Amino acid sequence: MRKKKGEVGSIHAGFILNREEDIPVVLDTSLVVSEHLAILAGTGSGKSYLAGVIVEELLKPYNRACVLVFDPHGEYHTLREVEGIQEFGENNYKPSVRIFSRDDIKLRLSELEYDELVNLLPNLSEKMEATLNSIYREMSEEHFTADSLIERLEELRDSESLAESTANGLIWRIRRYLKDMDLVDDYRHIDLKTLLKPGQASILQLTEFSDLEQEILVSAMMKRILKARINAEKGNPGERVDYPVFVVIEEAHRFASRDSRSYDVLRTILSEGRKFGLGVCLISQRPSKIDSDILSQCMTQIIMRIVNPADQENIKKSVESIGKEMIDELPGLTKGQALVAGVAVNTPILMRVRKRLTSHGGMSKNAPAEWRRWTEKSESKGIAVKKDMRLFWDED
Ligand SMILES: Nc1ncnc2c1ncn2[C@@H]1O[C@H](COP(=O)(O)OP(=O)(O)OP(=O)(O)O)[C@@H](O)[C@H]1O
Ligand SMILES: [Mg+2]
Repeated sequence: MRKKKGEVGSIHAGFILNREEDIPVVLDTSLVVSEHLAILAGTGSGKSYLAGVIVEELLKPYNRACVLVFDPHGEYHTLREVEGIQEFGENNYKPSVRIFSRDDIKLRLSELEYDELVNLLPNLSEKMEATLNSIYREMSEEHFTADSLIERLEELRDSESLAESTANGLIWRIRRYLKDMDLVDDYRHIDLKTLLKPGQASILQLTEFSDLEQEILVSAMMKRILKARINAEKGNPGERVDYPVFVVIEEAHRFASRDSRSYDVLRTILSEGRKFGLGVCLISQRPSKIDSDILSQCMTQIIMRIVNPADQENIKKSVESIGKEMIDELPGLTKGQALVAGVAVNTPILMRVRKRLTSHGGMSKNAPAEWRRWTEKSESKGIAVKKDMRLFWDED
């Protein structure tokens, strides 16, 4: 292994599988971060748990990374526990984990690209689209708002330079979709300076956003971060982020498939992000849906239990360093066991993931325990629970 456990720039992900003594598996942080990572496995195999381990390692004093997590299922907030665990601190260093939820996550309307704006307004006729395109170009220098777009359309309509039906169709859609959409705001904009800092993991909770909003958000944020990194590296004016950034994308098949609205930017970042210190970790239970050009750019791969033959086939295609014998091992792995391959390790290696230091926010549900907790709560509120049911619940 290239790095030792606890060394600056190391990620202690787990231990070599099937060995009597604990031999740590240690990844090289700079290679994981700059050359992208993929965590692929069937559902419930331990992908998110492992991603939590990796973020923990990145927040340790020997990494102090700047991490952003797109969290569609609200599983990563428990990482906040690092703030109270002693081994995460050192001298003046203390990591922080910030949670951003629906009310904190805003994209300013005038910062959206034309394509993103169009995506937010359904069923536009050709005429409506052409009109929107020209007023977008006309107004893109200013900070336009939903109301100023509407005003401009009304002006054009009233001066008869625009057909009434086109103008009204657009005005209705802007009122109905843009004004109501929480993600898009006339003025507020999530601030990259608050979001991205070394020694901080920022968790963007996407639970309450629709799939469309999530894709637009990933697309718009990733574009902004890439631009800010390029500005910093090239000394260009404009928004800057002065240090490398590592972004974790859960459910990556939704954001990195060819028909996703975030596809183009992810493709660019996966092929060029390395030059600008913008690394990505893609996590997915459906690797066959991730575009293979994107997947093949993840130079470190951690693969856990996969039974589905189509997914195995896709992995074989995109991960050259793994031989057939290794692929044959995949269905036999159990929860928390993984195959690690690629640049961050010397040769492919089987590992068991180390225990989390914080709790895992995506615990599989223990249905009987939850039902029981629920009925006990009802009882204490004075709602009767049938006696014969209690007999069933009581055996622990
Ligand atoms: N290394 C591990 N040690 C102990 N428990 C684990 C480990 N990995 C996963 N688990 C447990 O297994 C369950 C599923 O894990 P996890 O949420 O990470 O799966 P997943 O692969 O992300 O699934 P999904 O595809 O549904 O998101 C959780 O209850 C988790 O606590
Ligand atoms: Mg998961």
